[in-house]
Amino acid sequence: MPKFCVAANWKMNQNKKLILSFAQELGDPGSDVDVVIGTPTIYLDYAKEQTAGSQVTIAAQNAFFEDSGAFTGETSPAMLDDIGIKCVIIGHSERRQIFGEGNELIAKKLQALVSKGFRVIFCIGESLAERENGDTFKVIESQLQSALTGVSNLQYITIAYEPIWAIGTGVAATSEQAEECHKMIREWVAKNCDSDSAKQMQILYGGSVKPKNFAELLSQPNIDGGLVGGASLKVESFKELIDIAKNQAN
Ligand code: PGA
Repeated sequence: MPKFCVAANWKMNQNKKLILSFAQELGDPGSDVDVVIGTPTIYLDYAKEQTAGSQVTIAAQNAFFEDSGAFTGETSPAMLDDIGIKCVIIGHSERRQIFGEGNELIAKKLQALVSKGFRVIFCIGESLAERENGDTFKVIESQLQSALTGVSNLQYITIAYEPIWAIGTGVAATSEQAEECHKMIREWVAKNCDSDSAKQMQILYGGSVKPKNFAELLSQPNIDGGLVGGASLKVESFKELIDIAKNQAN
């Protein structure tokens, strides 16, 4: 069974002062649970410095697929590597919806990063309209297919299933709804990629994860952790989530 992962997605939040106190209060969460913090690009270096010596992985929230060139405003894998960042969140629904990133661009980013040895937290999930139309599996399948077909370094990939209707709304998927999709994702990877990687792959749930619903989500056989927005901004609730995962792991 994969190790539980509690991944923060800070989005466009925090500042140096907040990051400093967060890091000090978080301390070293140890290695029983995989702890990741998706940090705004401008603070990656600082967050890395403040969490040095701990088991926390600082992750970027986005990256381009080229290493250098005329791509104004972008951050390259080589630049992340240069400051010691080896984990990137790719395909978040806010990147897809607000910044117009489609499956094709996301696939290019994922494949470039994975081929360079980066760990990628690859986000997928359906909108409310798609769910209501009965298209949930179809949407997830096309997102998986476009990004993962032909990728061999699956050990570098963590999948985050994030139904768009649950993100930032306070309405999380029920553990049954989430498990149904996680199971489908694992089966898809086993069938279309390889079965050993499917068994080892962390599949995180994201969308209004809170301390009050996390234990129930983690109790599902195919849910290996959470990608957490709102509840990751305050160190108290983030630590609570880590403790829940630690207890559940034992
Ligand atoms: P949320 O965000 O926990 O605030 O719903 C999750 C995400 O967007 O990754």
